[in-house]
Amino acid sequence: MSATKTQVSVTVSKDGPYVVSGSPPLTKQTIVANADGESLQRQEGKAYDTPARYALCRCGHSHKAPFCDGTHAQISLTAPKRQSARPILRRQPYSTVRPLPF
Ligand code: FES
Repeated sequence: MSATKTQVSVTVSKDGPYVVSGSPPLTKQTIVANADGESLQRQEGKAYDTPARYALCRCGHSHKAPFCDGTHAQISLTAPKRQSARPILRRQPYSTVRPLPF
């Protein structure tokens, strides 16, 4: 038996959506709080039918969320040139970094 692997890729378009190819599954997930009020779990929701290639909204203004409907062009989405590749903990000022609980 041979399994065929499909290459999945996500491309960030300039001032536009995330372009996804390779048919990865897409489901809505909601972060939910436990009995102690901690948001540590995700609740799986709706599964979306997706074509082999699709565009995910990055501007937050699509009327067909989570998919891009082209609205970004009307609101002039201007994304940052480049995100930092440094780990998040190293981007925070020293005083806000808490020690790990172990
Ligand atoms: S990125 Fe296209 S509508 Fe949001």
